[in-house]
Amino acid sequence: MTISATLAANETIAARRAAGRDVVPLAFGGANLPVHPALREAYASAASLADYGPVAGIKSAREALAGYFTRHDVPTDADQVLLGPGTKPLLFALLQALDGDVVVASPAWVSYAAQTAMVGSRPIRVPASAGEGGAPDPELLRPALFQAIKAGMRPRSIIVTLPDNPTGALPSETTMRGVCSVAEEFGLTIISDEIYRDLVFDQAAVPTPVQWAPDRTVVSTGLSKNFALGGWRLGGLRFSAGPTGERLMKRVRTAASEIWSTPPLPAQHAAALAWSDLPALRDRIDRSRHLHCTVASAVADIFRSYDLEVVKPRGAFYVWPDFEPWRAYLKTEHGISTSAELAEWLTEQWDVVTIPGSEFGDAPGSLTLRVAVPGLYGINDAQRTEVLEADDPLSVPWVSHALARLDTAVNGLVAADQLLTASR
Ligand SMILES: Cc1ncc(COP(=O)(O)O)c(C=O)c1O
Repeated sequence: MTISATLAANETIAARRAAGRDVVPLAFGGANLPVHPALREAYASAASLADYGPVAGIKSAREALAGYFTRHDVPTDADQVLLGPGTKPLLFALLQALDGDVVVASPAWVSYAAQTAMVGSRPIRVPASAGEGGAPDPELLRPALFQAIKAGMRPRSIIVTLPDNPTGALPSETTMRGVCSVAEEFGLTIISDEIYRDLVFDQAAVPTPVQWAPDRTVVSTGLSKNFALGGWRLGGLRFSAGPTGERLMKRVRTAASEIWSTPPLPAQHAAALAWSDLPALRDRIDRSRHLHCTVASAVADIFRSYDLEVVKPRGAFYVWPDFEPWRAYLKTEHGISTSAELAEWLTEQWDVVTIPGSEFGDAPGSLTLRVAVPGLYGINDAQRTEVLEADDPLSVPWVSHALARLDTAVNGLVAADQLLTASR
């Protein structure tokens, strides 16, 4: 998403709340959960460590991250990981090091295309498979690559997101195997953005490309989503074992040394704990996953109950409804024919704030929305803690109120209660 879209949504929410309006905030991409006390303590006790640390990160944090990957069936040595101040700058440095055009799915998290342009490369947009998100459709990928090469482009890498922002989907194993085989054929590096990895609702089913393309995959992760610590700025990259991975890591580390020097030390000490498999932190992740799953599924059900197309949420905390079945009606009744107009109408008429799908690379004429559910968890830590600890988060008053408001807004938008199905 562009900065302006994010800021516009945040400002809209703040201004409407200040005016005393009852806002349903579905635009934020943050996890909106309290900091776990053990992590806060680890961070605070390292606050006096103010020297520069190693460029790649401190040993204890790199070892912990290697352990994290190994526990997720991706055997990893501490020398294969590089830490940085969030995955965003790490991805930027990686794209620069890879030096070439980048396959990006449509839709996809907007920073991929923006960063690709910033390093002087070009994105090759390839639609995701129908009903999926997070990876390009392998059937469309080959022709798109041939066409790109014919047009003089230099494809070098392909980005996948498991699970996906903006759709909340998880690419299927068939899709990922297909992507890996095309990557092999065209000699592409696969960048697997797994920053929401622990928030896949069915943990047994994560088709990481490392399984099928171990030598050409770089995996990214971080504390921002799984542990709701975006402001602490800590992420990591895992490179493949062997000379290719080593060479690439060296290039990224060189860039890191010239841009951010070292990842923030207090955050690294917290990360060493976060990635260490402490039972209390495992429990926190389990609870967070359950919460995101429950609320995202309920939100998806609301959209589905009005016959909208909704990708089944499989991870993270996003829902991606498509109002296409109501296109004719929306045009006639409200003059809506783009996702931007759709999002604006929901904001203006109902104070329901979402992000238009076009911000994520969907065609401007599409009628998709990116709906982020954590904004519903509360406006302070007391509320967020209550929601996190509730057996049934949907019955917590401010959550159930917001869901009812969303239902009313969608109903109002498509006038479902008037049974105008004939005019759809
Ligand atoms: C798919 C995806 N990757 C990466 C990031 C950035 O993460 P970080 O906070 O580690 O820079 C985000 C944040 O919104 C994201 O949604």
